[in-house]
Formats: sequence, structure tokens, C-alpha cells
Amino acid sequence: MTRISESTVQDIDVLVSEVGPRDGLQNTRQFMPTEYKKRWITAAAAAGLREIECCSFVPPKLIPQMVDAAEVVAHARTIPGLTVAVLAPNFKGAERAIAAGSHKITLTISVSRGHSLANVRMTPDEAVAQAKRVCELRDTLPAAQRPTVEAGLSTVFGCTIDGQVSEDEVVRLAVACAQAGCDEVGLADTTGYANPEQVRRVFRKVRAAIGDKVAGAHLHNTRGLGLANVVAALDVGVRTFDSSLGGLGGCPFAPGASGNIVTEDLVFMLESMGLRTGIDLDQLLAVREIVAEAMPGEPLYGHVAQAGLTKGYVPASGRA
Ligand code: COA
Ligand code: ZN
Repeated sequence: MTRISESTVQDIDVLVSEVGPRDGLQNTRQFMPTEYKKRWITAAAAAGLREIECCSFVPPKLIPQMVDAAEVVAHARTIPGLTVAVLAPNFKGAERAIAAGSHKITLTISVSRGHSLANVRMTPDEAVAQAKRVCELRDTLPAAQRPTVEAGLSTVFGCTIDGQVSEDEVVRLAVACAQAGCDEVGLADTTGYANPEQVRRVFRKVRAAIGDKVAGAHLHNTRGLGLANVVAALDVGVRTFDSSLGGLGGCPFAPGASGNIVTEDLVFMLESMGLRTGIDLDQLLAVREIVAEAMPGEPLYGHVAQAGLTKGYVPASGRA
């Protein structure tokens, strides 16, 4: 969830960060062969995606899908201009992510205690303490090799285990992560509980506390409010959004959490609104075939894929 202001490219208005190979695959029944993961990432980058969360560095015993994480990162690093993002749940995962050469590491830090214990077997404050150690490790590296470290605050808008989540606690943990040395803090609606008003309010509160360290929004579409929440986040200046191809995704340790917002639908909405993403929608839609071929029978969602592009669709990207 790199901030757009830090993006090296200024020819886009919104950075769409594809998280399907991580958030999507961590929740699918079938293993996607490594060669398909590589093809997916290559094709998504060719369609114009500039940041892809390629995998997570978790114990393969826990999530066998991620057994080939280092090999996937090595491949993604060969694609020019691509920010190779990964997720790590703890210090050991971050060490592995750094060793693999990841450009950006998102550390997952749940705001709700119940999800934190279920997901990473640490309290939120213990997770922040690990983030501090990761930042200290980052600082020992030569400047050119330092990955961006993002605190990905999870269950920000509600939790399937604990229910309501305190906004004061969101702000407290965002501040703690910034003080721990994280380059940026992203806010995730892991469980699809958010509504647009809440999205505007919480982003404003966090920005008031940590300024432009607040990064992007990671939204799920569990209750159909995903794109409405994107518009709300745009209203308050958010310019980076995570999404996944075909809406794949969900957290295996948050019961009832389902798919991300659909990258194809997100790009369609943004481009139609005049916001440049740099992504070619026809090319992106074709990437679905790779995923469908690799995992037969896995449901792939998306309204644009189903209904087709509008007649006379003119994307913002590429307009004179
Ligand atoms: N990668 C690989 N191995 C790891 C690891 C990592 N990131 N973290 C721990 N391990 C290994 C340890 O070395 C140890 O190995 P050993 O048994 O051979 O000694 C073993 O796993 C247990 O280590 P421990 O520190 O006790 O971890 P844990 O069992 O308490 O699990 C997490 C903690 C964080 C690793 C685990 O809960 C996890 O991966 N959660 C993330 C789940 C996820 O991806 N959720 C979706 C994203 S939101
Ligand atoms: Zn998610």
C-alpha cells in the first residue's frame, strides 16, 4: 500500500495494489502451481499493475500455499518497475522476506485482540513490538536494500471474533506503529464490516494522529460495500487501494471473512471516474483465464467480467 506521493511514477492518480497472489491464494482450497503464480504476476504487471503482493512468509505447515514464497519473489523481482510486496506475520517472516529481496513488507497487526491471538498468536502490542524489531533490522541494511515496512492494521472496522473495534484503539496502534519505525500504516477491513461513513471518519482520525504515514485502504466486499467504501476513502484523500483479481481472498483465521474488492471492477470504476490507474482493463480481464486454468472450479467474481465493458468506454489512462 505504497503512498501515491512516494510512487516513482507520476502518470497515475491512484495506485491499485494487487493482493490476489497473497490474500486470494491463502484462502483457496487448491494449490496453485508455482509456474502459474509466476505467469499470473507477469501478466498482471504487463496489464499495468505496478505493485503486487506476491505471497506471504508464513510457516508452510500452516499455509501450504505459500511454500514457494521465495521463488515467487525471485521471479517477481525480474519484472522491471514492479514493486514486489509481501506479507509477514512475525519477525521470522520478515527476515525471510528480506532475505528473498522483497521491496515492501506488510506486517499484519490486528487491532482486535481476539483476531490477533487467532491469527498470529500474539496480542496487538506484542505484534507492534515485533514490528519495532523488524524496523531495527531494516535499519541495519544498506539504504538501497531496505524494504519499505508497512504496518497493515487488520480488523480496523470490526471483527468477526470480538465484534466492535474501538476507534481510539485503532489510533493508538497506528501511533505505536509509526513510533516503532514503520514507514507507513495501512488500514484493513479484514472482515468486510466497514461502511462509508466509518471509512471517512477512521481515516481522518488516523491521519490527524500520524499525518502522511497513513497509507492505503485494504477493503473486503463481504457485505457488498467494498466499492462504496473506496469512494468514501477517495473523499478523504486515500490514493492507494488493495484489491484482488476475481475478488479472491479472505483470512483463514477470521471466520466468515470473504473476498477482497475485485481489481477489475475497481479499475473500471476509477478509470470511469477520470482517475488514472495505468491499467489496461482488457488485458487485466484476460488474466482471469490464467487463474481459472490453474484452479478449475474456484469461484471468480466480478461484475465487469460478467456484464462486459460499457459501450464507448473511455478510460482515463491513455487519454490525451
Ligand atoms: N515462516 C516460517 N516459519 C516460521 C515462521 C515464519 N514466518 N514463524 C515461525 N516459524 C516456525 C518457527 O521457527 C517454529 O519452527 P520449529 O517448530 O521448527 O521450531 C514454528 O514455526 C513455530 O514458531 P512460533 O514462533 O511458536 O510460531 P507460532 O506457532 O506461535 O505461530 C505465526 C505464529 C505468526 C507464525 C502463525 O500464527 C502465522 O503464521 N500466522 C499468520 C496467519 C496468516 O497468514 N493469516 C492470514 C494473513 S492476515
Ligand atoms: Zn484481506
